[in-house]
Amino acid sequence: MKEAYIKLKERVREKLPASDYATLPADDAGQKRKLVLRAAREAVWEEGFILNPSEMQDMMQKLLDEVFGFGQLESLLRDEEITEIMVNDPARVYIEKNGVILPSEISLEGDDEIYRLIDRIIGPLGLHVDEASPYIDARLPDGSRVNVILPPLSLLGPVLTIRKFRSNPYTIEELESMRTLSSRQADFLKKSVREKKSIVISGGAGTGKTTLLNAISSSIAANERIITLEDAAELRLQQSHVIPLETRPPNLEGRGEITLRDLLRNALRMRPDRIIIGEVRGPEALDLLQALNTGHRGSITTVHANSPYDALSRLETMALTSGIGLPSRAIREQLAQAIDVLVHLERGATGKRRVSEISVMDRSSTGEFHLIDYSADTPPTSSTRFSPER
Ligand SMILES: Nc1ncnc2c1ncn2[C@@H]1O[C@H](COP(=O)(O)OP(=O)(O)OP(=O)(O)O)[C@@H](O)[C@H]1O
Ligand SMILES: [Mg+2]
Repeated sequence: MKEAYIKLKERVREKLPASDYATLPADDAGQKRKLVLRAAREAVWEEGFILNPSEMQDMMQKLLDEVFGFGQLESLLRDEEITEIMVNDPARVYIEKNGVILPSEISLEGDDEIYRLIDRIIGPLGLHVDEASPYIDARLPDGSRVNVILPPLSLLGPVLTIRKFRSNPYTIEELESMRTLSSRQADFLKKSVREKKSIVISGGAGTGKTTLLNAISSSIAANERIITLEDAAELRLQQSHVIPLETRPPNLEGRGEITLRDLLRNALRMRPDRIIIGEVRGPEALDLLQALNTGHRGSITTVHANSPYDALSRLETMALTSGIGLPSRAIREQLAQAIDVLVHLERGATGKRRVSEISVMDRSSTGEFHLIDYSADTPPTSSTRFSPER
């Protein structure tokens, strides 16, 4: 079957350029499909393949996937249980299923095929990668997120990572029933959102920060005006009064970039009730702290960090990079004033994601503040000192 398919593909490739396939306008997909299928049927006939109807159908689907879709990746993309597709090299395509990473069964023809897939995926978005700009983050029309990185930055070859979009995002109740968080933790978070506490969700890569943010956002009242700011839009809030904004990378000449910082400044002029930043990862941290401290309470965001304490120091470091030249002490004071609740997520050895800690900012003592661990079923235990004095 496999050899037959490769031969068929070659024959179809030979046949197509000769036909008027190339001259058909790009939007005439139906006509192009017909041409490809006709060429394929002819090739099957000429090569004398004997295929039963279901083999024939499989082969035609595969061919159409390759010509019009994402080739062999198409079957992985269609599989609802697969949440992540990772192409490391042609022979090693990994998938994530139910929180576990597994090698997939597909194998690509070579780096050329990976390059073709990359072009096919990001080309229609008007994006392009090459040696001069060797990596890119993009969002597909269906909401899935794509990252591409090329040599020489990648030592393996072109590497493609796709985080698939879940067509129905997890609700807080679902996360509870999956034991990502306890019902006490869920109730506490819902209450915090309703009371317009400023919340930071921290955790390592892929621990479920964005998912949790999306889930808790459902506690925001329907009459609030919500503005979301993201690098690649992933959030899907249920409220109807939501304005999603997305940053823009620089163009090929390196111009025209719109950063999260730019968006945040603009968002403040849009009469927001809530500002949601998908992920804080740069100097916008300072603008966020200032916004929170000047009356824009109730913001929710995520940050990459290994512990709640680390989340605060990362925010501090990011705010320091804003170039305003504020002393660290001033930034720590702003942090203590601005942030109310820190939620930390972790992934266990089995891949299971869970809320490991919810800390609240304790500002009772002057000049110093603490994080109090509001853990699942025990009264507050540990408290981490995070003092403005070093
Ligand atoms: N509690 C959960 N249980 C099972 N799967 C989850 C859970 N939370 C998130 N996921 C899945 O894990 C993947 C990563 O989730 P998400 O994008 O929320 O993580 P993240 O921490 O925001 O990642 P990143 O660091 O890349 O921003 C997604 O495929 C998502 O559907
Ligand atoms: Mg995220």
